[in-house]
Amino acid sequence: MKKRILLGVISALVAGAVLSGCGEQKLTEAGAAKTGGKYGDAQAAVWPSLTSGIPKDPAIEARIDDLLSRMSVEEKVGQMIQAEIKNVTPEEARAYHLGSILNGGGAFPNNDKHASVADWVALADAFYAASMDTSDGGVAIPIIWGTDAVHGHNNVIGATLFPHNIGLGATQNPELMRQVGAVTAAEVSATGIDWVFAPTLAVTRDDRWGRSYESYSEDPQIVRSYSGRLVEGLQGRPGSDELFAPKRVVSTAKHFIADGGTENGIDRGDAIMSEAELIEIHAQGYFSAIESGVQTVMASFSSWNGEKLHGHKYLLTDVLKERLGFDGFVVGDWAGHQFVNGCSNVSCPQAVNAGLDMFMAPDPSWKTLYANTVAQAKSGEISAQRLNDAVRRILRVKLRAGLFDAGAPSTRAYAADESLIGAPAHRAIARQTVRESLVLLKNNDGLLPLQRSQRILVAGDGADNIGKQAGGWSITWQGTGNENSDFPGATSIFGGIAEAVASAGGVAELAVDGHYTEKPDVAIVVFGEDPYAEMQGDVSNLDYPGDADLALIQRLKAQGIPVVSLFITGRPLWVNPEINASDAFVVIWQPGTEGAGVADVILRDGKGEVNHDFKGQLTFSWPDSALPTVRNRGENEALAQFKYGYGLDYGQSVQLAALSEESGLELSHGNEALAVFNGRALDPWSLQVTDVGNNQTVIASSVSKLQGISVQSVDRNVQEDSRRLQWTGEGNAVAGFFANSRTDLTGYLENQGALVFDVKVDGAPSSAVNLGVFCGQDCGAEQSITDVLNSATPGEWRTISVDLQCLANGGAKMDMVLSPFYVRTAGALDMTVHNVRVASQASADIHCG
Ligand code: BGC
Ligand code: BGC
Repeated sequence: MKKRILLGVISALVAGAVLSGCGEQKLTEAGAAKTGGKYGDAQAAVWPSLTSGIPKDPAIEARIDDLLSRMSVEEKVGQMIQAEIKNVTPEEARAYHLGSILNGGGAFPNNDKHASVADWVALADAFYAASMDTSDGGVAIPIIWGTDAVHGHNNVIGATLFPHNIGLGATQNPELMRQVGAVTAAEVSATGIDWVFAPTLAVTRDDRWGRSYESYSEDPQIVRSYSGRLVEGLQGRPGSDELFAPKRVVSTAKHFIADGGTENGIDRGDAIMSEAELIEIHAQGYFSAIESGVQTVMASFSSWNGEKLHGHKYLLTDVLKERLGFDGFVVGDWAGHQFVNGCSNVSCPQAVNAGLDMFMAPDPSWKTLYANTVAQAKSGEISAQRLNDAVRRILRVKLRAGLFDAGAPSTRAYAADESLIGAPAHRAIARQTVRESLVLLKNNDGLLPLQRSQRILVAGDGADNIGKQAGGWSITWQGTGNENSDFPGATSIFGGIAEAVASAGGVAELAVDGHYTEKPDVAIVVFGEDPYAEMQGDVSNLDYPGDADLALIQRLKAQGIPVVSLFITGRPLWVNPEINASDAFVVIWQPGTEGAGVADVILRDGKGEVNHDFKGQLTFSWPDSALPTVRNRGENEALAQFKYGYGLDYGQSVQLAALSEESGLELSHGNEALAVFNGRALDPWSLQVTDVGNNQTVIASSVSKLQGISVQSVDRNVQEDSRRLQWTGEGNAVAGFFANSRTDLTGYLENQGALVFDVKVDGAPSSAVNLGVFCGQDCGAEQSITDVLNSATPGEWRTISVDLQCLANGGAKMDMVLSPFYVRTAGALDMTVHNVRVASQASADIHCG
């Protein structure tokens, strides 16, 4: 049986924003024990020995020696901190000698979503000037600014947005990636920014993961064939004069490693697998990225076999830096260091010692992190050697990228050149990628390509909705809250169709709800997933839930109108009913700003000939049911409705027979109580504690004394059928039942369900106690149980029940539950729990209407 521990997740609970009273915690012995046993003696030699595409340059190394010899510990640590533009000023960057800044998804100069190119460059100039100011006697080191240009320069209004990686994968055209990278780099340089956090090299194995679309393929060979070319597109080809020439930027391979291999596709979860699987599947993209000279690698939020990557010395240092020859620097991911055992947001020497070179420290607490890291460097907790190595790597990248000689961003070639943003030549390449990314699943009776000269109805909420076709990481982080006017110069799917149809005397009518003014010859329905990004995009099964879209397709069909469905999606989803209802069905992924690429393929040319044929093929297996079984090339292939590599073209005439409409999902009715703990934690849960020191522990023994909290197996009716939980009051600590898989409790919710447990209070709470349900980072809710515990008669058993509705109202997604029960307090408390369950029709002690 697979391990069920969810190391690193409880810490998210305590450090996570969703829950009040944030403190910190983590997991101790479980990780360490496994490390020793599992790969403590692992040989990095099982990994290939690689050489970076960019060789070391003795002149650069000598220059680094000189710089290091003149830098104070404070200046060195400053280089290792990356602050976020919302929480740092140029003046602070000067005072702290910061090495880097970033703008997170949806962060703009002056907090202005519509910031102009000049605004971006002005901010870059201000930070640059601050970093070069030596008035305090420090050494001038240009700051490096990083941004998530993950499908084009997606934080900037008017930029060219490419299809997300899943669409690029479908083009099966690695060479095109050089151009995609080069266009992105050009637009990024125009805003004065030096560095992009791309490409994502995740090999997504479970499509429930909300970042599936950031992955080129479930197949490592595609990812490998793309990654190096994308890196070369961004940075320029090593050994050529393209390398770090104007209009090139520094690239990042992320998120190292196995972000796409977490159990059940849980974002930031745990990749439980052998080292061989890590190498054969999840590392392949890194091999070609390193050989192409990628200069930075971002550590993953996730864990490998329970140990967080941000603190993983074996993988970061022994494997990545030593064996794989990576001599650039490792950057953290969005305060990800806080999830390492024993760390907090503001202190994590463990990460530095493991090989993290630059902390991504986006919130205002970066100053405390800086101060603590300085102190740790001075005390020797971080050795001088490690400190110098980290800074050497950062300086090496800055020197290689030419930042020392480039001058202020506004003075660089092409800087502030607005004409580069969304340039026609860039859009033309993006349009080509759209054309090549489309995958034709069904084309009965050869309905496609359509004649331009007809009357075409274009319906569906994706028809004229650029935000929807762009997906997550588009202007805003989750890609939500955008209007078409936020994408000047972009073309919607309808826009592209309308233009082509008008050119041949046809008529395209837009009617989102399908209510036309004149009966069309054919209807095109554009529908699918709304935008999402990390965490929020995780789902519990593969069902496409859009009943209204199906009804729309069926209604048009019932009127005798042939229907072409264009499905916008970030991952394969079960859409058999929608496919059956349509005559033709095309997966268009999340195509980005150049919607006209769709019309290029589905419409004939002006002479009635095929204009562009379909080229796209699935690089993800398409599911035959909504069940979340893992389906990949070489893994459960029989459960693929459309196999890896599938994709029709106009040369084939295939009549697709009706597909099964059994989703495979069973509604949980919530009639029987669901036991969570009944003498022992029931599968899939395990009892886990996050102590005051942010150490996470899976409780496996009968007595566990941790920092500020202890757990003991005690008897109520039979031997050791209950757990005594004692908080000392030294700080925030959590105990609860957690799993690495999700449980759907909606049946209980709809059935007046409650969380029910028996409890005996031997020491009343000294401060607030919350009962919580957890469904992932930033997902969950807590309910106070302080009063009921206080009113309990000491030493006597009683039953407490909390209406699930309270937790649902508080934001817990009941179909996605990872922990149905945890207790958190910073105060002292001595309570024993017995028989924890979820029940329906329960009369709740705590309810909320
Ligand atoms: C994401 C990264 C991203 C970073 C900076 C993180 O939450 O995981 O992919 O580069 O934020 O925005
Ligand atoms: C930021 C993203 C980041 C995310 C991680 C957001 O607020 O804008 O860039 O990846 O937080 O939690």
